[in-house]
Amino acid sequence: MGLFDNVLGAGESLIRNEDALDFEFLPKVLPFREKEQKNIAECMKPLFQGRNGRNAVMHGPPGVGKTAAARHVLREIEEKTDEIYPIYINCWQCNSSYQVMVEICDQLGYRLVQNKKTTDLYKVVASMINKDGKSAAFIFDEIDKAEEYDFLYFLLNDVYRKSLVLITNFDTWIITLDERIKSRLTPLVIKFGPYTQHETREIMKQRMGYAFPAGVWEDDAFQKVADKTFELRDIRTGLFIMRESALVAESQSRKKITVTDVEKALENLDGFSVKKSTELEEDSKFILDIVKENSGQKIGDLFSIYQKKGGKHTYKTFQRKIADLDQNSFISTKRLKGDGGNTTIIEKKLTDFD
Ligand SMILES: Nc1ncnc2c1ncn2[C@@H]1O[C@H](COP(=O)(O)OP(=O)(O)O)[C@@H](O)[C@H]1O
Ligand SMILES: [Mg+2]
Repeated sequence: MGLFDNVLGAGESLIRNEDALDFEFLPKVLPFREKEQKNIAECMKPLFQGRNGRNAVMHGPPGVGKTAAARHVLREIEEKTDEIYPIYINCWQCNSSYQVMVEICDQLGYRLVQNKKTTDLYKVVASMINKDGKSAAFIFDEIDKAEEYDFLYFLLNDVYRKSLVLITNFDTWIITLDERIKSRLTPLVIKFGPYTQHETREIMKQRMGYAFPAGVWEDDAFQKVADKTFELRDIRTGLFIMRESALVAESQSRKKITVTDVEKALENLDGFSVKKSTELEEDSKFILDIVKENSGQKIGDLFSIYQKKGGKHTYKTFQRKIADLDQNSFISTKRLKGDGGNTTIIEKKLTDFD
């Protein structure tokens, strides 16, 4: 039997719209975050009257709709007016002032960035936005991933009409900002808490509707996904489980997704993301403590320490756990080019006060 004999044909996939299961997919309506979106919009309203806007810091754990809510507001601005530039930057991808400025230029439609220094780009950005009474609504997502914050200082000082919304998983991040920025930012703080069980279920149901034809999911299978998502307090992981379950069913050429498929998908998942929070804390805390005691070391050296201290996981799993701690802002990682190729340096967060 060939390896691909049982593959469903192109028209036979259980998933109707794969994009809808992507984390970056932005649903048309975003239920249960009306209040938060209103708060963001409130900060940006003065821009519509040609005045300077307010700033905000949004914080909350991963997978609770921070990015989605912020992008939703930007999309509305985009649909409503040409007078306000909507700008979304992920500081995980652009983590220096230079990169942020290049990205802003790109979103403003300015292409001649080559051979220009950061200070040149500051001038370009300021003159483009300040021209003709225009303004800009900025979202800086994963702001704690930026290596420096000069760009914030520049935008606050030199762009006349703007609103800066900063997103972080870390409620203490703002404390780490230096005073000259903090005093200019004076942000509204918008906290994102986890969804209730009912809300989680409704969100997952909405997404199921986008991604799958009706009737593909057996009721108890969907219920299991919804329950697990609530337990994890993270919609993103929930969507991942939903997709994996469908793939399990597809791999057996079945036309329905059952509880068994969900169970299998959960087994397949990397242990980290589906662990109960108590287990997760213990497991990741062990690694976190090692990082704190040995900040600035190479990942390979940290792994040796981890093993000496009785850590049982493979290097690959260790790497994944480090990545996860990084993603959730407990630690930070830096890629360095060395003689023997690239290596990753792991550092504790400056926001650790203990
Ligand atoms: N209220 C909601 N309604 C619909 N989808 C949501 C809602 N909240 C989160 N999601 C979805 O869950 C996923 C994770 O949300 P995201 O905004 O990326 O979380 P965060 O930025 O807080 O980590 C995204 O795919 C997003 O579309
Ligand atoms: Mg996000």
